[in-house]
Amino acid sequence: MSEAAAKKGFGEKPQPKEERRKFQAIKGTRDLLPPETALWHRVEQIAQEVFASYGFGEIRLPIFETTDLFARSIGLETDVVSKEMYSFEDRDETSISLRPEATASVSRAYLENGMQQLPQPVKLYTIGPMFRRERPQKGRYRQFYQIDAEVLGGSDAPAIDAELIEMVMKFFERLGLEGVQLDINCIGDKKCRPIYVERLRAELRKVKDRLGPDSQRRIETNPLRVLDSKLENEQKLIEGMPHIAEHLCEECAENYRGVKKELELRGVKYRENWRLVRGLDYYSRATFEITAKGLGSQNAVCGGGRYDGLMELLGGPPTRATGFAIGEDRLILSLQEAGKAPAPQGRDVYIAWMGEKAYATAIRAAENLRAAGLRIELPPAEQKFGKALGQADKLRARYALILGDNEVASGQWTLKTLATGEQIKLAESHLVDFLKGEKAKADPSHRSG
Ligand code: HAM
Repeated sequence: MSEAAAKKGFGEKPQPKEERRKFQAIKGTRDLLPPETALWHRVEQIAQEVFASYGFGEIRLPIFETTDLFARSIGLETDVVSKEMYSFEDRDETSISLRPEATASVSRAYLENGMQQLPQPVKLYTIGPMFRRERPQKGRYRQFYQIDAEVLGGSDAPAIDAELIEMVMKFFERLGLEGVQLDINCIGDKKCRPIYVERLRAELRKVKDRLGPDSQRRIETNPLRVLDSKLENEQKLIEGMPHIAEHLCEECAENYRGVKKELELRGVKYRENWRLVRGLDYYSRATFEITAKGLGSQNAVCGGGRYDGLMELLGGPPTRATGFAIGEDRLILSLQEAGKAPAPQGRDVYIAWMGEKAYATAIRAAENLRAAGLRIELPPAEQKFGKALGQADKLRARYALILGDNEVASGQWTLKTLATGEQIKLAESHLVDFLKGEKAKADPSHRSG
């Protein structure tokens, strides 16, 4: 092993005298555990159902791409690219980065797989982890998860933007997300935005001395981002700045009016927010952000907008596109704060068996019950019945199936309801139907078997 590899921690051999080392997840990353993962599962399943009802198909993407793809798409001056990417040199010296978001990859995949040949627009969604080296806090992680949807190709018809927004609002409604607030803005296109940016820069320069160091720097690098400032003492100055709405070209203004009209047609409530600028460079025209309750300062649960120029930056033909990404961690957090976390799932049946013959029967019973969609715990070793029932309680099992020599000989099995202590005798052939029926009564959504 080379010295460099040793320093990096590869192949370290445990030293006999060294203190035992404890490993921890890297700062800003975390394990998602049951029962919380059941909520993640439900959220993703509902996303799939709702998105499919709007004609979206799933795309699965690589977790890493060339650094250049993100630099070009998201923009060199953005925080994401300039400070937050996890980049490394591959063995062939190409610079690789863990994806900080999915839009760049979806666009690359659209071009690379010749999806322009498909009927347009192509509607894709993807769910998975993203990586940004931000300062971790509530709702902000270095590995976080996004549910991302993109509409690629097609036209700039405002109905496309509005339907996309309607879809995410419907999804949140189905989940029962509380305190949902949709903000929209139009940030112009490559014709009119540069003129506004110059005007804003000129006005910001006039008050430069009264702004903090971050905003001062952004006046030169990315003046739109100054509008995003949360600093108390900058608010009054920013409120006095020129609004983009007054600088839109006629096409953009017309398009924005169309988006608002289409949202109203769909009964989607929105608030116009001229200071909503988004942190990534590829946007044009209609952009939006959605906030929800219970999230503190990191309350943006979804962000998105149009990015008509991106495909050209990636070497493709002019292509219209729009999309959004939901911060799944924040969505889950908000649902949990509203008391929507699922109760830990126990077992349906704990099989308390004793004796070798009973064990063979227990294995067969477990197989049949599992095939019927029931959650079964089959202990790996014989236990006294008292101990087995104690274990069944701890696992919050609904029933204990008691299998001893008597039961095996008579073919009449004992089923004990743990909450009441009530016991019934059942023939093996009736057991599956009985338990399936009971489960369906307790949970009408359970239809497997
Ligand atoms: P974004 O605004 O950078 O947009 O991220 C979208 C959402 O991801 C945020 O609103 C937030 O909920 C979540 N998020 C971002 N960073 C973190 C973090 N460090 N920890 C937890 N959650 C986070 C995009 O990523 C664009 N690609 C969205 C898009 C798709 N635009 C067009 N198509």
